[in-house]
Amino acid sequence: MSRLWSPFVQHLVPYVPGEQPKGERVVKLNTNENPYGPSPLALEAIRAVTDDGLRLYPDPTGFALATAIAEPLGLAPDQVFLGNGSDEVLAHAFNAFFRDKGPVLFPDVTYSFYPTYCSLYDLPFRRLPLDSDFCLGGGQYHGPCGGIVIANPNAPTGIAVGLDVLADILRRNPDVVVLVDEAYVDFGAETATCLIGEHDNLLVVQTFSKSRSLAGLRVGFALGQQPLIEALRRIRDSFNSYPLDRLALAGAEAAWRDRDWFDQTRTRLMADRERMIVGLRAQGFEVLPSRANFVFARHPDLAGEAALAALRAQGILVRRFGQDRIADWLRISIGTAEECDLLLSATSGLLSR
Ligand SMILES: Cc1ncc(COP(=O)(O)O)c(C=O)c1O
Repeated sequence: MSRLWSPFVQHLVPYVPGEQPKGERVVKLNTNENPYGPSPLALEAIRAVTDDGLRLYPDPTGFALATAIAEPLGLAPDQVFLGNGSDEVLAHAFNAFFRDKGPVLFPDVTYSFYPTYCSLYDLPFRRLPLDSDFCLGGGQYHGPCGGIVIANPNAPTGIAVGLDVLADILRRNPDVVVLVDEAYVDFGAETATCLIGEHDNLLVVQTFSKSRSLAGLRVGFALGQQPLIEALRRIRDSFNSYPLDRLALAGAEAAWRDRDWFDQTRTRLMADRERMIVGLRAQGFEVLPSRANFVFARHPDLAGEAALAALRAQGILVRRFGQDRIADWLRISIGTAEECDLLLSATSGLLSR
């Protein structure tokens, strides 16, 4: 704390990102990165623009990338908003749609950045409890509120909700924005983009960090009807007009167009996820049904904190969240087949101790 800070900074509760180890060789299953790497065509496209052109600012609208994203989804380029990772897009959306309204609603167990954005913009919020199986009861999401945020699939549970539930929430809340965070949607859930035409209050947010394996490039985007996108542009152009650099625009466009790489890598990952779920359950773990590139698991004989530390001691990083309800659960990202095997033999070792 310093006398030089703006007063509100004293009360900020920043998000704590997962550990990014420096140098040390570890099996890194803690931040839901994709083990297979980006499309080779994306890397080639990035190399191709690494030249004298970097003296020029990038296209602030990212028109070529927005057009590429919009086309297969049956949307127009002005229904796409690009940002520096979906975290930035989410932050702008909280700012654009949820200020000076009622409380923002989201589940009690969900992406822990949502309360952080509320703290940043001084927004009231209410956490609605997921049921005992960590499923979302859509019926709770009605009545006066300032906006609704649903991660689908949810994080850190990995559980997906059907479009019927989302459509119902959209219908019951026509006067607030319903933000559907689809960071993990490509690993087996259903995207809500097909509901955009029908619902002017729907904003879908996706990322290149997970299924396109470009967490290091920082590209995320929002999809919605044009007035929502226009509000996001107003925020962006009051903040930073060039959130995506030339390398990011080129790399993301090539990655988006490389459908083969996208399909091959996510298919492998989903197969390993199912193998991981079977393996952990065989060891007595309770594992939630995941549609994401991670699993959420706990074992009746292992305390979460001790298990995290014991795996860390063997060079395997997974993630645990301190929140009471999930204190004994571990979120384990799906790595390569070999990394999944290492995790399974490490947990088996812990249990036989
Ligand atoms: C639910 C959810 N939304 C959004 C993000 C942000 O991803 P990025 O900023 O890399 O696009 C994450 C990252 O892990 C996430 O888990």
